[in-house]
Amino acid sequence: MLNLNDQVGIITGSSRGIGRAIALALAGQGCRIVLNHTRDGKDITETCAQLDALGNQYLVYRGSVAAAAFVDDMVKSVLDQWGRIDILVNNAGINKDKPAMLLSEQDWDEVVDTNLKGAFLCSKAVIKPMVKQRSGRIINISSQTAVAGREGQSNYGAAKAGLIGMTKSMARELGPYNILVNALIVGFIDTLMTKRLPREIHTDMKRLIPLGRIGEPREVANCCLFLASGLSSYITGSTINCSGGGYM
Ligand SMILES: NC(=O)c1ccc[n+]([C@@H]2O[C@H](COP(=O)([O-])OP(=O)(O)OC[C@H]3O[C@@H](n4cnc5c(N)ncnc54)[C@H](OP(=O)(O)O)[C@@H]3O)[C@@H](O)[C@H]2O)c1
Repeated sequence: MLNLNDQVGIITGSSRGIGRAIALALAGQGCRIVLNHTRDGKDITETCAQLDALGNQYLVYRGSVAAAAFVDDMVKSVLDQWGRIDILVNNAGINKDKPAMLLSEQDWDEVVDTNLKGAFLCSKAVIKPMVKQRSGRIINISSQTAVAGREGQSNYGAAKAGLIGMTKSMARELGPYNILVNALIVGFIDTLMTKRLPREIHTDMKRLIPLGRIGEPREVANCCLFLASGLSSYITGSTINCSGGGYM
């Protein structure tokens, strides 16, 4: 039921962190992988080396999910080469944390454009081929901030809460075509995004997490693998909470 042989999965923002872990988890089940990122460097090189070691076929597209023309070109190119898209994981995300009164319009737009508009543009681009196939999985990576709030994250929280609303509406629209749309509510995970935060925040977060530790990217990837696989065939419009109990 976990087998993804011959399937094609696009994972946005997959040069490192959670996106990389998702790409490797899907690849481990035989999925052909589409990587996406915006910056060249060691992150994407390392991800490619890990996929090379697994022996999976993969494609790499450099560009922002917030740019409609790039997204449409990426999806067209994947279809030209592989003829299908089975899984889309809307994972690309950034944060620009500041108290609301100090947030600039640009801070708002960049975060909402990447986390929310980007997910919409990618979903829109894959819906037609998925409808034709009469199957597909769209998985949106949301956050605990969407449902519990967090100081300094009004832009990020709004974007991630928007993802949950979008998930439910698309799940209703696309259910008749056997396209399942779900979201993950992700807690505090050990990636570059959280490594940049002050040590005191790490200590506070650990105290608030019943499991007593920060999560690993592969633990989010495992939930994603479940949602991408045959094991979740009757789940759509739902949110799975992967936060070590930090949110409940
Ligand atoms: N870490 C956590 O605790 C946590 C908690 C809740 C939710 N999340 C969510 O999980 C997702 C992954 O986060 P992470 O912690 O793995 O962060 P990360 O280590 O900073 O990785 C972010 C990834 O997104 C890519 N990216 C950023 N902007 C992009 C854009 N406009 N277009 C395409 N790719 C873009 C980055 O590549 P480039 O640098 O090359 O652009 C990178 O591959 C995000 O949506 C984040 O909001 C994370």
